[in-house]
Amino acid sequence: MDEPAPEKPKRRPRYRGKNPRAFAEKYKEHQPELYPDDVAKVISGGKTPAGAHRPILVSEILRVLGPRPGEVAVDCTLGHGGHARALLGAVQPGGRLIGLDVDPIELPKAEARLLALGFPAGSIALHRTNFAALPRVLAAEAPGGVDLILADLGLSSMQVDDPSRGFGFKLDGPLDMRMNPARGRPASALLSELAESGLARLLAENADEPHARDLAAAILGAHARQPLVTTRALAAVVRAAAARFPGPPEIAVRRAFQALRIAVNGEFDALDAFLRALPGCLKAGGRVAILSFHSGEDRRVKLAFGQGRIDGFYASIADEVIRPSAEERRDNPRSSSAKLRFAVRA
Ligand SMILES: C[S@@+](CC[C@H](N)C(=O)[O-])C[C@H]1O[C@@H](n2cnc3c(N)ncnc32)[C@H](O)[C@@H]1O
Repeated sequence: MDEPAPEKPKRRPRYRGKNPRAFAEKYKEHQPELYPDDVAKVISGGKTPAGAHRPILVSEILRVLGPRPGEVAVDCTLGHGGHARALLGAVQPGGRLIGLDVDPIELPKAEARLLALGFPAGSIALHRTNFAALPRVLAAEAPGGVDLILADLGLSSMQVDDPSRGFGFKLDGPLDMRMNPARGRPASALLSELAESGLARLLAENADEPHARDLAAAILGAHARQPLVTTRALAAVVRAAAARFPGPPEIAVRRAFQALRIAVNGEFDALDAFLRALPGCLKAGGRVAILSFHSGEDRRVKLAFGQGRIDGFYASIADEVIRPSAEERRDNPRSSSAKLRFAVRA
């Protein structure tokens, strides 16, 4: 279904100079759906428009999940709603989508986008919840289990591109990194709590950082001299320390951000709980697909599906990971590290 073209806003935020500089002042980035021509131009340049997220491996996900009219699908990581929209369309007529996301900032926007598509009333139920709590959601929404489950792990482009969320280092922002800013503590506070050995373990386990000990010492040494409270301050410390190691310092920066983000949001604990709960959430013949973006995630998914197959929970699982085509990777470089696995409930 096509969305009606919304009207452009009458007033733009005020800013100094010809173009807005600060992310908060940019108006197209906050309402990309109102500027389809600009969005198309950005996409044709192989980039993701800020304020949007390009869903990855959509046709492959639809192929492995095989949605049919009347089925109940769960999108555990709603994000911008791209995969959800495809699933919702594919289970019509008569099907339902249950959507989950921890992010209280993006979820209402995704909800408005999905509702604007005009699917039948009652076909969409959204919950601002961690997918570790999927059994609790389903106890109310679909006690007999569901037909399809999708999880597209990690961050959305909207989260990465908004400097106020503190996930990225291209623009400066508070060193926060919480997907739900109302829960837990920001990454800067986590640094104050961690001992060197603890930070080294996070860097090694969450991001396979080969120089974890040295990097942890550099980060906590700098944090003790002057608390690291912005993303650029942390990136600068990691970059300077990593200049002594072989390999590009930017990779060490990316790994350090990944390691902290996973710790701040308890991502591995949530994924482990979700993987344990999955067989109990699917009907017989139900399908699950999981998109992961780094080895820590993919290892867990591969192990859980393999063990589930041995234990008789799954009738079949993906033999190999499914990767984006060269064309999709070129078209959307953010898809490059994606790995898709699926399983079918016995
Ligand atoms: C890669 S994005 C999903 C993009 C989405 N598939 C789309 O088409 O727009 C990941 C989303 O999952 C959410 N998320 C990450 N971990 C989560 C968890 N444990 N429970 C619920 N949501 C989570 C993030 O807040 C983010 O919005």
